[in-house]
Amino acid sequence: MADMMSAEAFYQLVTARQSDRAYDTDRAVEPEKVQRVLEAARLSPSACNGQPWHFIVVTETKLREDIARSMVGLGLNKWAIQAPVLVLIVEEATKTTSLLGGLVKHNHYPHIDLGIAAAHLTLAAEAEGLGSCMIGYFDEKKIKRMVGVPHHKRLPLIVTLGYAAKEKRLKKRKGIGEIVTYNKYSD
Ligand SMILES: Cc1cc2nc3c(=O)[nH]c(=O)nc-3n(C[C@H](O)[C@H](O)[C@H](O)COP(=O)(O)O)c2cc1C
Repeated sequence: MADMMSAEAFYQLVTARQSDRAYDTDRAVEPEKVQRVLEAARLSPSACNGQPWHFIVVTETKLREDIARSMVGLGLNKWAIQAPVLVLIVEEATKTTSLLGGLVKHNHYPHIDLGIAAAHLTLAAEAEGLGSCMIGYFDEKKIKRMVGVPHHKRLPLIVTLGYAAKEKRLKKRKGIGEIVTYNKYSD
């Protein structure tokens, strides 16, 4: 595997991925690229291999724009209407072992699973030359109704995809010394 992709290339990919909030509205995303980024999400790990996800790819203009409008609020996501593709990530039932383990350990593993799948998806998008942004702020009820997701299921995350219309930014992150300790916690 190491000869297929160098560690350096991987870290470059991680550094290059950013939340893109401006898209080239004249440039469609090739369906085969969408297929491949979804394949990356499909291969991502999940608690007990429960794979508690369903991905709804929205490309139809009117529906996509209606969904994008339902993401606007608190000064967020006005730009989302430009994105030519939206991927809605629906939380599906997981394996009983994951649910039971979560009950015992006071955790809800599917939320973690969906985040990991979204990370795979956005990194794959970067590898395909596509911009992406994870979106967690939207009218979940309204959007679920628009695409026929049953009331009792959750839709925690949406990912935008498209050709980015802005340059790369430098990452703003805490320093490694602020977030990592060895063998002991300290804040
Ligand atoms: C769970 C989650 C929800 C997010 N929701 C939004 C959102 O609603 N709108 C938005 O513009 N960005 C959203 N983001 C993107 C973050 O703001 C972004 O990842 C963070 O600022 C770091 O910047 P970068 O992705 O460019 O490295 C979200 C990211 C995550 C992981």
